[in-house]
Amino acid sequence: MTSDTHTAFEALAASGSSMTDPFDSIYRLVYQLTMRTVGCADIADSPELLRKTLAWFHLVEESTTAASTLFPRLPGVGYFQRMYGGARLYTTLKKVVDSRARTGTRVDDPLQFLIDEGDDMMHIIGFVISGLIAGLLNSGINAGFVLAYLAHSPEWLAHVRAEVETVADKYTPDEASHQTLAARLAHVPLEAWESELPIVDLCLRDSIRLQTLGSGFRRNISNRDVPIGSTGEVIPAGAFAAYPLDDIHMNPAVYQDPTKWDPARYLDPRNEDKKAPLTFVGWGAGRHPCLGMRFAKLESNVIVAYWAAMFDFSLCDEQGMPTDVLPVSNRDAWTARKPQPGCRLRFEAREKSGA
Ligand code: HEM
Repeated sequence: MTSDTHTAFEALAASGSSMTDPFDSIYRLVYQLTMRTVGCADIADSPELLRKTLAWFHLVEESTTAASTLFPRLPGVGYFQRMYGGARLYTTLKKVVDSRARTGTRVDDPLQFLIDEGDDMMHIIGFVISGLIAGLLNSGINAGFVLAYLAHSPEWLAHVRAEVETVADKYTPDEASHQTLAARLAHVPLEAWESELPIVDLCLRDSIRLQTLGSGFRRNISNRDVPIGSTGEVIPAGAFAAYPLDDIHMNPAVYQDPTKWDPARYLDPRNEDKKAPLTFVGWGAGRHPCLGMRFAKLESNVIVAYWAAMFDFSLCDEQGMPTDVLPVSNRDAWTARKPQPGCRLRFEAREKSGA
């Protein structure tokens, strides 16, 4: 994950461009990291296959609507898009599986694990597509937003950089202390990436609060009505309960100035998310919270740390002119979506690449 990220940012620094759309470039990096973690290394290592499979994956993902969920076999444009995208992903993965079988090549990746388990192609493709759907959208959108918020907030960027420098200093051996900050980050062990960047973690947390849209659904699968506290109301047996997440995340009685990105709201003495149970449900709750939380936090920590280490950056418009306008999520959407209008970051390398 660290070397993919470092390589992607070095390529951006060497691209000759000084402006990027984080909802495109960073989203693509998140796709690569997700493909490496839930899919196959052959695709994660190939820029060409990454580009093609992301386009096919989008066909599958974007054609999933409320109507297609209710009537999955009803032929319409979305149905054919989904079939086409799914078929192209299937054949790409199948080629990799066949080539490994033919040449006896073994690779340390999730695909190999599924092959070794004896799973058939339909299960393998189902696993990879489900993993990408679960893992890409939220992580990709939030990564773009966190970098935009930091571009807008020199104070939080300074906190983040100080934290990243502290962790790099702690783990860099003396003989490597002359290296760039980005190069020194390669010495940071997994445990430290996961537990020693609490400020970066809070940056993600408040972005998730703002980007978690729509409703959570649960079905009462028992054969009795479930009472709702002491309200006298029930969730009838077999019925669905829907909970609009903004009811809590945008509640001004819980979150002061709720539309503002403000990681300090989780710190002493404010502790806004500790005022009552279930005030923060950005990772889900109950029996089915997010299974990818650890991976998602790790991925965010790595991306934010390398970006802050390697670039000075600020918000700009499509023409490259400085702006103060932050991207915002459309709160009428039912799932994380790229913001419209989008956003651009103007960036400049902070240190020469290499050691
Ligand atoms: C910032 C990133 C992420 C956010 C905000 C997020 C959020 C969530 C939420 C709110 C749920 C619960 C949905 C519900 O209760 O109806 C959930 C479930 C889930 N997430 Fe994530 N997620 C993220 C990243 C990931 C990643 C990277 C993966 C895996 C690669 C992943 C895999 C899953 C899975 C498998 C579930 C279903 C768990 C179950 O039903 O038992 N998520 N996620």
